[in-house]
Amino acid sequence: MSKPRVFVTRRLLEPAMKMVLESCHADLWSNEMPPPHEIILERVCGVDGLLCLLTDRIDTEVMDAAGSGLKVISNCAVGMDNLDVAAATSRGIPVCNTPGVLTDATADFTFALLIAAARRVVEGERQVRSGTWKTWSLDTLLGADFTSATLGLVGFGRIGKAVARRATGFGMRIIYSDPNPASPEPGVEAAHVDFDTLLRESDFVSLHTPLTNETRGLMNAAAFAKMKPTSVLVNTSRGPVVDQTALYEALKSQRIFAAALDVTVPEPLPIDNPLLTLKNCIIVPHIASASWQARQKMSMMAAENLIAGLKGERLPNCVNPEVYRIWNKSMG
Ligand code: GLV
Repeated sequence: MSKPRVFVTRRLLEPAMKMVLESCHADLWSNEMPPPHEIILERVCGVDGLLCLLTDRIDTEVMDAAGSGLKVISNCAVGMDNLDVAAATSRGIPVCNTPGVLTDATADFTFALLIAAARRVVEGERQVRSGTWKTWSLDTLLGADFTSATLGLVGFGRIGKAVARRATGFGMRIIYSDPNPASPEPGVEAAHVDFDTLLRESDFVSLHTPLTNETRGLMNAAAFAKMKPTSVLVNTSRGPVVDQTALYEALKSQRIFAAALDVTVPEPLPIDNPLLTLKNCIIVPHIASASWQARQKMSMMAAENLIAGLKGERLPNCVNPEVYRIWNKSMG
């Protein structure tokens, strides 16, 4: 029996890559840069499966180009905003992501950014490197305290909760806003509040929401106006959740104290972007989940999902399980 044909838009970490190459007839895009959209359209023609990354826009055009044989789309990311899930569902194509395996890595990194921004780590490092640090003094690079400070989590899913567990160890008060208030975690005290209360009361605001029509531009000028002038914003979710022009104004005018962004619009941020002129803004290259284990497990999960889908099995991490109801209905 011939192996299923798949397009893989970037090299996975081992051993996942080997597994895909062994079980499929794989067309692997192995460049450092993502395949341009036109190339995706060409390369998906007639494939049985597609394994893609968050840098690939997978829209109706791609699904149409692939044709009716497309049995599975495996996204090697937890966020799904690069992919038109509704369009896949209406075509009966199961889609999967990589939840859970990157939760701890992302929560750890969120804390790294919270501390770096609050305690001016990057600013200090730059002073040392440029030789502008002169001597120890009582008021050099003073920053924000954590103990007893209020952490506001926008989004209280897996990653928000994992950040809350870490914040508990720092002795912080935790509040969160989420359209679906969650049940409390054992050992973690976190109070559900509305978004405005969260903005007003938080010393640290950390974003852990998916990108949706509701969350696009959520952190806008009106939101910054409600925050404390001493507050710190961290974004490890998706760039478009923050209105970057409003953030620039808020940081420049010291409406808020500092920000750290793992994600921006676009990625990478052009070198002449005004945010890069600010000392109180840290920007890193979308690496919150970039730990050895997390990225290896994401690769493996994406490969396993792909192979299950090619065999017609139920995907272990399906984000549109309603496709199976549609299948069952059409079969029975
Ligand atoms: C990373 O941003 C992911 O969605 O996996």
